[in-house]
Amino acid sequence: MNSPKVVVEGLCKVFGTSPKQAIDMLAGGATKEEVFARTGQIVGVHNVSFDVQEGEIFVLMGLSGSGKSTLIRLINRLVEPTAGKILIDGRDVAGVPRKELIALRRKDMSMVFQSFALMPQRSVLSNAAFGLEVAGVGRKERERQAMAVLEQVGLAPFAQKLPAQLSGGMQQRVGLARALAVNPSLMIMDEAFSALDPLKRKEMQNVLLDLQREQQRTILFVSHDLEEAMRIGTRIAIMEGGRVVQIGTPQEIIKNPADDYVRAFFDGIDTSRYLTAGDLMQTDAVPLMNHSPQIDASSVAATLNGSAEYAFVMDSERRIRGVVGRDAMGSASPHITPVEAIRYSTPLDDVVTRVTESRAPLAVVDADGAYCGSINKAHVLKVLTRHRGSHV
Ligand SMILES: Nc1ncnc2c1ncn2[C@@H]1O[C@H](COP(=O)(O)OP(=O)(O)OP(=O)(O)O)[C@@H](O)[C@H]1O
Ligand SMILES: [Mg+2]
Repeated sequence: MNSPKVVVEGLCKVFGTSPKQAIDMLAGGATKEEVFARTGQIVGVHNVSFDVQEGEIFVLMGLSGSGKSTLIRLINRLVEPTAGKILIDGRDVAGVPRKELIALRRKDMSMVFQSFALMPQRSVLSNAAFGLEVAGVGRKERERQAMAVLEQVGLAPFAQKLPAQLSGGMQQRVGLARALAVNPSLMIMDEAFSALDPLKRKEMQNVLLDLQREQQRTILFVSHDLEEAMRIGTRIAIMEGGRVVQIGTPQEIIKNPADDYVRAFFDGIDTSRYLTAGDLMQTDAVPLMNHSPQIDASSVAATLNGSAEYAFVMDSERRIRGVVGRDAMGSASPHITPVEAIRYSTPLDDVVTRVTESRAPLAVVDADGAYCGSINKAHVLKVLTRHRGSHV
């Protein structure tokens, strides 16, 4: 595995003149509110550690004031840490001299904010090329590169317009194009889509996901919206009062929210559509029997053992050869029916379609085709009811 793009270790930021007392209180388990009440110091970020892997979209999520923006400002060193370490490409950014830091921010970390911060008197093309201009790239070359990214975000026909002639969603695309044009190795997006209406927002998420399919960038994305985080995040870190309370893939967080704070983000959201076959399967519902020429009525009966309706027949490499039903017990050479196998990562919608079309349970297999578990209609309904809660 590659080394991580960003490593954050024990990172703390206390705003105020005497952070030491605050750090000690925090180490003793005090909350941000307690620290403020006692010391007047404001906790921005406390003891945060995580890695961001090359090519992933790492989402920071949390309520207002939980420390998301402070954390990214610590990463690009607009804010000095009180304690802790930040490594980018294995390099400690604390040691980067000021001059280099400016170049680092300009070249290696592009920022996209909620406000587009476009220059009103300049054309869309010139705005998109701005980062390259600052970096000293000649006019022809920077306009060529900027045009290429405008193309990617669907704005090429508007290159000569002024920002004010564009809708909010389109202006945000210009902001995105400007960040992309310098071809940064790390993109930092702070609530980049939050000012947009839901439709435009989804559209921008799709633009980002499309871009990501073409060329995998490492992106740190701040959002206070769980659905956005779920849609675009490879992994999500959830922040509360300066701390990171949970890190995981969208699936992991849905399946296992760390506490009530995390759970509260799911209120009113139908989390079932993020489920996959792996979440819906059971590992012990269908008995298994080994494939052999000697499969006969009595071995089927022994496997079904009174209560089971079906058994899966498996070879020595845990590949499913078929399914036998209760009716096979009456036959001297039981018939093995081919069984539908679905991949562990199959999304809910496909699972539901296939399970309703199939009489026997479905077999769930991993990427190598090895058996993982079974899915039947009744169990799918049960899991869905749990996830949909009031939505059913
Ligand atoms: N320069 C500063 N001086 C003092 N306190 C600050 C400063 N910047 C941030 N804070 C405080 O640090 C805490 C974290 O703020 P931060 O802006 O990181 O939150 P956030 O999660 O980005 O919130 P939002 O969703 O509203 O953008 C807040 O209590 C905030 O008031
Ligand atoms: Mg913020």
